[in-house]
Amino acid sequence: EKNGYDHFMLKEIFEQPQTIFDSLRGRLDLKHEQITLSGLDKISDKLQQANRIIIVACGTSWHAGLLAEYVIEELCRINVEVEYASEFRYRNPIITDKDVIIAISQSGETADTLVAMETAKKQGATIFGLVNVVGSSIARISDAGAYTHAGPEIGVASTKAFTAQLAVLYLMALKLAEIKQTISSETYQVLFDDLAKVPKYVQWVLDTQIDSIKRIANKYMDADDFLYLGRGYNFPIALEGALKLKEISYIHAEGYPAAEMKHGPIALVDEYLPVVFVATKDSYHEKIISNMQEIKARKGQVIAVVTEGDEVVTSLTEDTIAVPRVHEIIAPILSVIPLQLLSYYIGVGRGLDVDKPRNLAKSVTVE
Ligand code: M6R
Repeated sequence: EKNGYDHFMLKEIFEQPQTIFDSLRGRLDLKHEQITLSGLDKISDKLQQANRIIIVACGTSWHAGLLAEYVIEELCRINVEVEYASEFRYRNPIITDKDVIIAISQSGETADTLVAMETAKKQGATIFGLVNVVGSSIARISDAGAYTHAGPEIGVASTKAFTAQLAVLYLMALKLAEIKQTISSETYQVLFDDLAKVPKYVQWVLDTQIDSIKRIANKYMDADDFLYLGRGYNFPIALEGALKLKEISYIHAEGYPAAEMKHGPIALVDEYLPVVFVATKDSYHEKIISNMQEIKARKGQVIAVVTEGDEVVTSLTEDTIAVPRVHEIIAPILSVIPLQLLSYYIGVGRGLDVDKPRNLAKSVTVE
């Protein structure tokens, strides 16, 4: 049931304050400032001694994995590799019993992810499954795991499953960092508090930014190409924004690390190219502002997701969408919301079936 929403995709985007809350509930203990994740406890020794963590996934789940690489390496000081399941399974990867695999999947039935896990398992690795669908194949063959509590996702484009994955990956990273004592208690505290407030902050975006997003969607819905740029923690969100737009609007879109622009994609920039910057305030903020100026100097159209109150970026472009100020590690779970909505309104504006885009299946159970 669409609950009064025009599409499942919109309903699922609007459910995110609740689904993120549900994914944190019972795990983020506010009273004792503690994180409980029984699945993680089960492989806690393995994880602490792990040589490396290998994340396998496809599509949007792979983007969640890419962000997890940045976060786990920073907070837990463990080497993380992120692999497209389809590539990993066929290239005779080097795996030992000192490796921990994290498989991420909404459906729990993605064929490539499943086989990638089986391949690693045969070679002695420990397998952790982060899955939304209870009792799915991936959940069943994992040694341990955690469920995202996003509820059924009907829209073919993944939205609420992605933010639920991020919520649980943050919990895992924080818990592991605490066990390994690789972060200060101050950083732990800030991240813990920000994470607890994410549902409220997502609600703020949904309550206050829809008009700007609709206006921007209207302005650019006839474009033929889009570029999405981000640095650091926001780079995976640039990739996710581009994927969402391709799926929903059939507009060609590419995501890039902002600094890679100079190594090729900048040749595409002209007055017809909208460039979406994921530009919340972080350690690279000045650098991303100079990337924006480079686009503007070539007459490209700049759209930016910014931290609320960012006057510098708002003086560079009228097309900004704000998210609340949080720690830079937590910001991506907020920055993705406007990009989901931008794709949705562009797809609807172009008269497309956003819940069932052409050629796509909700779960890819064949390779
Ligand atoms: O069910 P999974 O998370 O394993 O699915 C992985 C991809 O097929 C999926 O994320 C796909 O890219 C979506 N259409 C993205 O919106």
